[in-house]
Amino acid sequence: MSERRQLIIDCDTGTDDAVALMLAALHPALDLIGVTTVFGNAPLEATTINSISTLDLVGRGEIPVHAGLARPIVRSAFPSQRRFTADSADDPHGTWLPIERSDRPAASTKAVEWLIETYRAATQPITLMPIGPLSNIAAAVALEPKFAEWVPQLIIMGGGHEVGNETPSAEFNIWADPEAAASVFAAGFRDVLLVPLDATHKALVTRADCTALEALGTPAGIGAAACIQKRVAGYEYSQKMVVPESAPVHDALCVAALVEPSIVTTRRHHVAVEVSGELTVGRTVIDTHGRGRKEPNAAIAFNADARRFVAMLLETFAAK
Ligand code: RIB
Ligand code: CA
Repeated sequence: MSERRQLIIDCDTGTDDAVALMLAALHPALDLIGVTTVFGNAPLEATTINSISTLDLVGRGEIPVHAGLARPIVRSAFPSQRRFTADSADDPHGTWLPIERSDRPAASTKAVEWLIETYRAATQPITLMPIGPLSNIAAAVALEPKFAEWVPQLIIMGGGHEVGNETPSAEFNIWADPEAAASVFAAGFRDVLLVPLDATHKALVTRADCTALEALGTPAGIGAAACIQKRVAGYEYSQKMVVPESAPVHDALCVAALVEPSIVTTRRHHVAVEVSGELTVGRTVIDTHGRGRKEPNAAIAFNADARRFVAMLLETFAAK
């Protein structure tokens, strides 16, 4: 990547969002111009403070954080009770990150208004990277009919073809606000990269990698290690991965794929979202064999290079 790419991350900061924010804030190829927050891994207040705390930890406290939706755009809450209770041994996030909590306030402008005005005024391409429920993005599309046209690239962490995590059918980000996700995939964004669980579960980070991150001795290395170790503990409890003592760091893989697109392997397919059915709500329906006769609307990652991903984390976090 030659010039620094401008980037906005929309997140529900939990532990993997935090590593994504650190990578985006510190990688020399990227210019993280702002962060918007949404409910998801934790309530909006916590995801917002966690995002601010992460940026302050790595010395990027000048990056504004704009709070967004505190609940889904149609439903009043998640489609059903969550798979685990917050802050249980099973929770790979916890309400609060395992880093020092900042008291810096969020920016006064709300996320959806800021997103619309930032893209309206943009003079160079800004990648938009939603890594939580798609409620803010759907709200921006509903409020400003030209929003999808103004966004040159959308990189979404979410969904799953062979893999679900919140339910057998669905991945958490899509399941948490299925109507929002359905509207985003149907909105006509011209360049969509979807990074689902099929890819993120192939980019596992191990406890040994965490030891190497911590040994960097930098705020980012130490902070990322603490976040990922919490993930490994949560996964060891109920989602054991094929690699012992490891966990996916879903959201950070999206940032890595922006910097080095070949770190993921993609195929173009049409993707839509099921918004009904007790067993199927929130499922990404990926038409891998063109049975729906609809044009592909996304490049979908089905594989990822774990070692290149971890190498990027180690290299980027060594500096700060
Ligand atoms: O299913 C994984 C996704 O849900 C990640 O973005 C994680 O942070 C949670 O939001
Ligand atoms: Ca997330």
